[in-house]
Amino acid sequence: MSAVFSSWRTEQQNRVERALGEWVSADAPARLGEAMRYAVLDGGKRLRPLLVLAAAEAVSGDADMSLRAACAVELIHAYSLVHDDMPCMDNDVLRRGKPTVHVQFGEAQALLAGDALQALAFELLVPDEPGTDALLASRLCRLLARAAGAAGMAGGQAIDLASVGSRLDQPSLETMHRFKTGALLQASVVMGAATGQTSPAVMQHLVAYGDALGLAFQVVDDILDVTTDSATLGKTAGKDAASDKPTFVSLMGLTGAQACADQLLDRAHDALRLTALTHTDHLHGLANWVGQRSS
Ligand code: IPE
Ligand code: IPE
Ligand code: MG
Ligand code: MG
Ligand code: MG
Repeated sequence: MSAVFSSWRTEQQNRVERALGEWVSADAPARLGEAMRYAVLDGGKRLRPLLVLAAAEAVSGDADMSLRAACAVELIHAYSLVHDDMPCMDNDVLRRGKPTVHVQFGEAQALLAGDALQALAFELLVPDEPGTDALLASRLCRLLARAAGAAGMAGGQAIDLASVGSRLDQPSLETMHRFKTGALLQASVVMGAATGQTSPAVMQHLVAYGDALGLAFQVVDDILDVTTDSATLGKTAGKDAASDKPTFVSLMGLTGAQACADQLLDRAHDALRLTALTHTDHLHGLANWVGQRSS
């Protein structure tokens, strides 16, 4: 990983952390704010915000709206993790190296923290400030809503839970992964690009980049669940096999899953080259990071 990319990544992660720290207020009734901040701050790779910011950079997008979009996507992601960990879903006790939100605050509070984070994400996309580009705000809301809802994350989570104990073939597994994880990652790229000017052709290539990277990301998540220990992951390792979830590893073994992830990441780099945009180094860097990450 290049030193230039690493320092950009750290700088942007800090920027996102500061913005989230301001926007996710502790000032909510009955410890709800505390649970929300616990779920969001001080942890996580911030891959989705980084994708938003790198895509915005590639198209000289709006600085304020891209930071808002970056944080909004992370809020949806954090809410999805809070709910994913609950006993009615994956029943996990460890997340980002800490006890999960329901372990720390109780199930009802975890449910509500997730709800409130989701609402806050959309509030952030519609700044109550003069000069707001209302068309851009509504476009960002629509992109995020679609990726988070039945045609995206929530729909994918439903497929995931309905698939416990079954053996999915590769196309069905790809569909599940594209929904539950890929959609939000792809939306991150598209939302970042929407904050600037792009031709439809360039947008199509960015969509293809987001699709390939998004799918690769969940394939790597399946691999890490098997190959990496809980301390490194910051979440309980070995959960997929223990819960009898169909994954790329259960379908094609570790070598097959790794080859599949590599192929998808090559496809992401190719799509990015086809944009012919000049400032895509960080988007390339993020695709490399998805392949090399250990947590
Ligand atoms: C974990 O996502 C959940 C999946 C969608 C696979 P990340 O691996 O991005 O989790 P954080 O945000 O870094 O904790
Ligand atoms: C979760 O997938 C995807 C979400 C939408 C949160 P996983 O259940 O595989 O994520 P981890 O492994 O718990 O992070
Ligand atoms: Mg899950
Ligand atoms: Mg899980
Ligand atoms: Mg997983």
